[in-house]
Amino acid sequence: MLRQKINVALIGYGYWGPNLLRNLKNRPECNVAYVCDRSAEQLSNVSDHYPEQPVTQDFNQVVGDPDVDALVIATPISTHYHLAMRAIEAGKHVLVEKPLTDSVQDAKAMVQAAAKRRLVLMVGHTFLFSPPVRKIKEIIDSGDLGDIYYVTTSRVNPGLHQNDASVVSDVDVIWDLAPHDIAMLLYWLGEEPDTVHACGRGCMRADVPDVAFINAGFPSGAIAEIHLSWLSPVKIRRTMIVGGKKVIIYDDTESIEKVRVFEHGAEFRENESFGEFLWSYRTGDVYAPRLENYEPLAVEIKHFLDCILSGANPITDGYSGLQVVRALEMANKSLLRSNNYIQEVS
Ligand SMILES: NC(=O)c1ccc[n+]([C@@H]2O[C@H](COP(=O)([O-])OP(=O)(O)OC[C@H]3O[C@@H](n4cnc5c(N)ncnc54)[C@H](O)[C@@H]3O)[C@@H](O)[C@H]2O)c1
Repeated sequence: MLRQKINVALIGYGYWGPNLLRNLKNRPECNVAYVCDRSAEQLSNVSDHYPEQPVTQDFNQVVGDPDVDALVIATPISTHYHLAMRAIEAGKHVLVEKPLTDSVQDAKAMVQAAAKRRLVLMVGHTFLFSPPVRKIKEIIDSGDLGDIYYVTTSRVNPGLHQNDASVVSDVDVIWDLAPHDIAMLLYWLGEEPDTVHACGRGCMRADVPDVAFINAGFPSGAIAEIHLSWLSPVKIRRTMIVGGKKVIIYDDTESIEKVRVFEHGAEFRENESFGEFLWSYRTGDVYAPRLENYEPLAVEIKHFLDCILSGANPITDGYSGLQVVRALEMANKSLLRSNNYIQEVS
């Protein structure tokens, strides 16, 4: 039986943790029981901003506390499985940052463990709560775009190589950036890819790919290309969705008109005089749909708390996290098989 407020512990207060804490503290139905980080320095940052906030370096104290209802886990990917499973086994609801885990096997175990105990398991695919991504889903589902032929995305920026070179990251560019694009593709298309190929290269460090190109094919016939890089001097977040009737261009770096719909298309038409079929290109209006204005993470956090209270299944549930990890794993295996990368690491 839940008390009036849901007692939540935040695990990990690095780059992303402060955003989660701010949004948790904004929710009236939530009490942040602990912020836990193994780094004392990170915890002193919490105390600087929120002097009253209980903090701890001891994860066992958090999972062992019967008053804690739920954990929000924002630690490096390689720690997700261990920390989330400990929480689930202790009967806590869990929101795990993206990607859910670093292997399909672990993701499946996590999903099963949460289902067995009827606990909410949610993954932080934050973009699925964002106004442009939701608007695009609405347009696709309305049939306005027609059949989706293909999708291209670019998610490039100066990346994690900016960090201290002695710090070994547990992610490469695929595991860092692709969860966003794969989660969006699966959400928009409503299907998982049946083929995923990737090539990439560790330009700065041979063992850590910092540029990658992923190609995916879907059962509907849609194909997708995802371009990822930590080596771009500028941040690009650009997606094009080409349908039979219309085309969407989504640029998340735009402050207004993030989504533009082009009433363009290519079609066959019959040549009346000769009874032949001809290609024709159609050009039409371009419009930018009105988008709501809210912080996606605020909606994500509210959704997690709502699901705990109602017992509903989250939009980004553990299973959707598993689907994304499956595509990531396929990309990773393909990357390791690709000639140029094997030469680099062998
Ligand atoms: N949803 C999004 O848009 C988004 C954005 C950025 C990062 N993320 C995700 O958030 C997670 C964290 O990323 P980050 O960039 O904040 O990483 P980070 O390295 O900056 O921070 C991780 C923090 O976790 C702490 N930590 C590590 N192991 C721990 C443990 N066992 N117990 C307690 N604390 C521990 C570290 O001390 C550090 O402070 C990753 O899964 C990442 O993919 C999501």
